Amino acid sequence: MLEQRRILLIVAGGIAAVKIPDLIRRLRERGAAVRCILTKSGAQFVTPLTLAALSGDKVYTDLFDLKDEAEMGHIRLSREADIVLVAPATADLMAKMAHGLADDLATTALLATDKPVMIAPSMNVMMWTHPATQANLSTLQTRQITVVGPGAGDLACGEVGDGRMAEVPDIIAALSRHFQKDVRRGPLARRRAIVTSGPTHEPIDPVRYIANRSSGKQGHAIAAALIAQGADVTLISGPTTEPTPDGVKLVKVETAEQMMKAAQAALPVDIAVCAAAVADWGVSNPAPGKIKKTAGAKPPTVKLAPNPDILATLSKPGSRRPRLVIGFAAETSNVVKNAKTKRVSKQCDWIVANDVSPGTGTFGGDHNTVHLVTADGVEDWPTLRKQAIADRLVERIATALSGKASRE
Ligand code: C5P
Repeated sequence: MLEQRRILLIVAGGIAAVKIPDLIRRLRERGAAVRCILTKSGAQFVTPLTLAALSGDKVYTDLFDLKDEAEMGHIRLSREADIVLVAPATADLMAKMAHGLADDLATTALLATDKPVMIAPSMNVMMWTHPATQANLSTLQTRQITVVGPGAGDLACGEVGDGRMAEVPDIIAALSRHFQKDVRRGPLARRRAIVTSGPTHEPIDPVRYIANRSSGKQGHAIAAALIAQGADVTLISGPTTEPTPDGVKLVKVETAEQMMKAAQAALPVDIAVCAAAVADWGVSNPAPGKIKKTAGAKPPTVKLAPNPDILATLSKPGSRRPRLVIGFAAETSNVVKNAKTKRVSKQCDWIVANDVSPGTGTFGGDHNTVHLVTADGVEDWPTLRKQAIADRLVERIATALSGKASRE
C-alpha cells in the first residue's frame, strides 16, 4: 500500500520526535519515499543528519535558506508529495495550522500544500485536553485533516493520560488506510469484509484462561489477501503475535463474546470469513481475583457455559446476512464429511476444511492442506503456503461476488 508513495514528513519539537527515525525506517522498508522538514524545535530532539541518513534525502530546515528556495521552494516541496504527515504534531504547530500562520518552512509548506494532511499529535495531557487545543483540533478536522492518535499512557513529562503520540505501527496503518481508500482498485474494490482470526481467551480468573490452539496465521493471511484485492477489511483478532496486515481495521478482542460484538458492530459487510478458533465454552463465573492454590485443598471446579457461535449467528438468514459467509473446520478425522455437515448446520456458504491432526504441522506452521466445501461439491486443494491458500480463496470470493451489488 505504501510502495512508491511520497511522504513529506514534518517533524516538530516534541519528545516523540525520537520515534521518528524508526518511523522513517519502517516506511522505507515498505517502499515509501520520505522527505523531511525539521522545525527548529524538532532539531532539539533529533538531528538533521539522522533524518537525512535514514530518509536517504536532504532534510529541509529553514525557510530562508536561499539555496533551497532556488532549488526547491516550499511550494514545490509541499506539492511533490502524495501526503503531508506531521509527526509529532505539537500543540503549537496545531494552533498555527488552525490559524493559518506561516512563519517557518513547516507552517509555510502546510499552508501551501494541495495534498492531504495527516497529523499525529503529541503533548502533555493538560495541553491536549485544553479547550484551545480541542478547538484547534475541531477546526483541523473540519478541513478533512486526518488525525492519528494520540493514545493514553505515561507521558514524558511524568503525567499519565492522553497525549502520547500514536505508535509507529498505528501511524503506518493510518497511512496505509489512507492510500487504500485512494486506490481501492482490484476486483473487491468497495467490498466490505470481516475476518475473524486467532484464538479467543476465556478467563478463569485474571491470570488464567481457556483457549484453543491458533496462531492466527491463516486468518491474518486472508485479511491481507482481501486488502490486496481492494476490499475494506475489519480484522477481528484474538490474542496473537502475528503482525497486523497493512491497511486493515484491526479490532483486538479476547473473548468469544467480545468477538461476537465486534463482528456485529462491523455489519453490514459483503464477506465474512470466520477463521478464528473460538473457544466453544467460556467460564460461567470467572473469579474476580486470582484463585489461590492452597496446600491440601481440592482443586477448583470450573463451570463452563456455551459461547455464542459467531459463524452460525452471521449465517442466519436475514437482511444483514453477508452475501458470502465462509467458515473453517479444523478436524482430526473424517475431515470432509464433518465439514459438509458443518456447512449445513451452520448455514454458511463455504467451509474451508483442514486436517489438524498431530503431525500435520498445520498449527502455527506456514503450510496448510485444505478442502473447499461448497453447495456445488468439494475441491481438494494441494498443500500450499497459508498465504497462497488465502490468495486462492480470495480469488474464489471475487468470482463468486462479481456482478453482485456491494454493501457500502
Ligand atoms: O463448530 P466449530 O468450532 O468446529 O466450527 C468452526 C468454524 O466456526 C470456524 O469457522 C470458526 O471460526 C467458527 N466458530 C465461530 N464461533 C464459535 C465457534 C466456531 O465463529 N463459537
